[in-house]
Amino acid sequence: MPTILITGANRGLGLEFARQYAADGWRVLATVRDPAKGRAVSEAGAEVHLCDVADFAAVARLKSALSGVSLDILLNNAGVYGERQDFGALDPDEFLRVIQVNTLAPVKLAEAFATHLTGRKIIAAMSSKMGSVADNTSGGSYAYRASKAALNMMIRGMAVDLAGRGVITAALSPGWVRTDMGGPAAPLDAATAVGGLRRVLDGLKAEDSGGFFHWDGSQVPW
Ligand SMILES: NC(=O)c1ccc[n+]([C@@H]2O[C@H](COP(=O)([O-])OP(=O)(O)OC[C@H]3O[C@@H](n4cnc5c(N)ncnc54)[C@H](OP(=O)(O)O)[C@@H]3O)[C@@H](O)[C@H]2O)c1
Repeated sequence: MPTILITGANRGLGLEFARQYAADGWRVLATVRDPAKGRAVSEAGAEVHLCDVADFAAVARLKSALSGVSLDILLNNAGVYGERQDFGALDPDEFLRVIQVNTLAPVKLAEAFATHLTGRKIIAAMSSKMGSVADNTSGGSYAYRASKAALNMMIRGMAVDLAGRGVITAALSPGWVRTDMGGPAAPLDAATAVGGLRRVLDGLKAEDSGGFFHWDGSQVPW
């Protein structure tokens, strides 16, 4: 049975990924940071584990809990948008918190679980078009944009460093999706975005490693 580990799976896109992979017969290992919030993803058929991804001791505990478990896909989904990040009002502590969750944590998760990868051997991370330098025509959102641009660089770096082990990495752009983060005005529903990203993940080949892919399969300009 193929196995996927999904972070931040108690709501939003992570929960939808868990639902769709579980419905498709995958073993889904879903992390939540609050045990009280694990019910929906558990009812979707996932095995729930606790992990605040910004707490690297918690990441180490998760690795111990999953000792001996083989993974086809590590999906770094957990993310935060952040606050107080407009020019002139940038909050340094908040900036670093966003980087910790969105950029550093996915790499620490990858370090922890790279040796668990078998089969498809994919490390994917939820990036955003807001992390595209080419796409930034509206400014603002300094912490979020920087965290996702840096995440893209980490994904590219890991593509090089892990190629010898047969690992494929990918940065994913879900589009603007109706979740708590995306808000009610977003044009896409989670089922459509996740369905598209699952097709992207399904089609990844070695030569795609390190790429930045939109939910519709197109490549996002860096
Ligand atoms: N929605 C969009 O339009 C959109 C667009 C581009 C990219 N994305 C990216 O897609 C991913 C999922 O977004 P979403 O829209 O589903 O967001 P969401 O509805 O706000 O859900 C975010 C998830 O991340 C978890 N999380 C946050 N900080 C965490 C931490 N320190 N440790 C563990 N889990 C943590 C949250 O858990 P709690 O419930 O405990 O807070 C929640 O499960 C994010 O990386 C986001 O940047 C979203």
